[in-house]
Amino acid sequence: MTAIQKAAKYLLEASQITVLTGAGVSKESGIPTFRDALDGLWSQFDPTQLATRQAFKADPKLVWDFYEYRRELMRPAEPNAGHYALAELQERFPTLRIITQNVDDLHERAGSTNVIRLHGNIAKNKCFANCQGNPTPVDVSQLAWDKSSGPPRCPYCGQPVRPDVVWFGETLPLDQLEQAKELLEISDVMLVVGTSGLVSPSAEMPEIVRSRGGVVIEVNPDSSMITRIAELKLDGASGVILPQVVTALANKN
Ligand code: OAD
Repeated sequence: MTAIQKAAKYLLEASQITVLTGAGVSKESGIPTFRDALDGLWSQFDPTQLATRQAFKADPKLVWDFYEYRRELMRPAEPNAGHYALAELQERFPTLRIITQNVDDLHERAGSTNVIRLHGNIAKNKCFANCQGNPTPVDVSQLAWDKSSGPPRCPYCGQPVRPDVVWFGETLPLDQLEQAKELLEISDVMLVVGTSGLVSPSAEMPEIVRSRGGVVIEVNPDSSMITRIAELKLDGASGVILPQVVTALANKN
């Protein structure tokens, strides 16, 4: 049996499949990852200067412009074969849930539903002070401001507006984290796609499933922090591997 066929068998035998995705799943859509040596964002930019509350307080324009740059990079991106294959898996296994660390919306655009978003959504913004409650969403398309001067001001309190993403040192959206934790308790297969497994708490999630007797299947062209606990490692790009898993499932009918 090939590794792909083995993966299909584990999926067929599972009662609850959970998928954990990271930047790698969107790489074939043209969105850079964070830690790939050559073109990863954090190989070109210092996250402590760009992805923390302190950085935003010190230089809101620098941080805002960085996120505008990332939004520009993401604008032309379309879901790739990996996103579509995950949406197909969810059609086949309706209880399947995706937990993503990604701030793009490519899973949803490929047709996946009920996606748990641990790190927010780069297309959205909120008040830096969350003055009307956590979060306080701000629709910047309704605001007029000098775009060369950095972020607009919150219409309620005048504090700067910031992207609705999780920065280093910040807590994750509690409702999303709670949903993820509940899923981990009942998952017997976790498919881990395109993450280095270096950022908590996502990094610990596969181990939680494994320690309860579940099976971890990894899809990644390289090795990662997840590899050593994976029962099965599918080496390759998710846009290539995941459609093969879908085909293997179809052939088992
Ligand atoms: P990383 O950049 O740390 O890891 C990307 C992973 O994707 C690596 O293990 C690559 O080998 C793998 N990869 C590359 N191309 C791939 C492909 N075509 N198919 C499948 N895998 C591929 O990205 P994340 O693990 O997502 O957090 O990073 C986690 C968090 O760190 C991000 O959410 C972000 C970042 O700082 C915040 O911004 C809060």
